[in-house]
Amino acid sequence: MSDEPMSRIFVVDDTETNIDILLETLGARYDVSVALDGQTALEDIPDRQPDLILLDVMMPEMDGYEVCRRLKQDPRTRAIPVIFVTARQESEDETFGLGLGAVDYITKPFSPAVVLARVRTHLQLEHARRDLAHSNEILEDRVRQRTAELSAKNVELEETRLEIIRRLGRAAEYKDNETGLHVIRMSHYSRLLALAYGMEEKRAEILFQAAPMHDIGKIGIPDLILLKPAHLTDDEWKVMRGHPGIGAGIIGKQRSLLLETARIVALTHHEKWDGTGYPRGLKGHDIPIEGRIVAVADVFDALTTRRPYKDAWPIDKAVAMLQEGAGSHFDPALVPLFISILPAILEVRESWKEHEEEVVVTEFR
Ligand SMILES: [Fe+2]
Repeated sequence: MSDEPMSRIFVVDDTETNIDILLETLGARYDVSVALDGQTALEDIPDRQPDLILLDVMMPEMDGYEVCRRLKQDPRTRAIPVIFVTARQESEDETFGLGLGAVDYITKPFSPAVVLARVRTHLQLEHARRDLAHSNEILEDRVRQRTAELSAKNVELEETRLEIIRRLGRAAEYKDNETGLHVIRMSHYSRLLALAYGMEEKRAEILFQAAPMHDIGKIGIPDLILLKPAHLTDDEWKVMRGHPGIGAGIIGKQRSLLLETARIVALTHHEKWDGTGYPRGLKGHDIPIEGRIVAVADVFDALTTRRPYKDAWPIDKAVAMLQEGAGSHFDPALVPLFISILPAILEVRESWKEHEEEVVVTEFR
């Protein structure tokens, strides 16, 4: 590394002879400024911003130690290296000077070669220090930039994942000939019920996002069965009962909490509290809470929606049906909670109500 010919050096010395010698030694190679006393040096140095200061210790008015102390207190000059130039030779003086933040000590009388060598060494150190600081800044900038890019990518990834889930939910609706409003309503019901149950907000939000995929497995059910405008035979029911397993298989085992929740909901939304549900006949608390919640939300919406073979049930009749199913079909703790949040449920129902021409054509399966 070169010491850069035009590095700036600031000499503070009250003896003109010394200044002359230093100018002669350094002047040809460096840009040298001079002050004859400490006060002037303190005024000039902040503007001048030298790369190195040669500071005489013994000066009238303000000695070099005091000048050094003040330079080190000023944020504008704190980092500029200082070399003391003095006639004193005792080692405690050197220790004291170095303790004030000076980088070196040159004792008078000095040889020009020694001054030049020390100055060059310290300028090189100073330039290396600045290069390092500069590199660090660049590195920190890059780290900041990469972090920002990464978090933008994460947001994009999360949005993409949500969109795919919505689209998959839509795919099942097309197949089922439903309007899309059913999954919206039942997802809202599920979230409200989850919150009433005491589920933490983030998990309830994930359930809300996952619930639209509960019937994704219907993609794998033949239309002849899925869209049959009459009651199903036992064999057809057997096929129909395959849709939770198909749905869980479509979603697969994923590390994402959202997709894992969607898989659990798809697999368990037809399980019943008393163990008579499908596909696995799970009982009570063996049914994941997400599945128990979605079961209530899904059935309530099916009951209160018009189907080709029935009108929409009045709310009180649907509520009575939930109460009747508490402890057999449904988790008995969830039914009273659902009833307690009925006003909010009905608000959702009103916001996302079916229009006459969009009535669903399949029974609840
Ligand atoms: Fe289903």
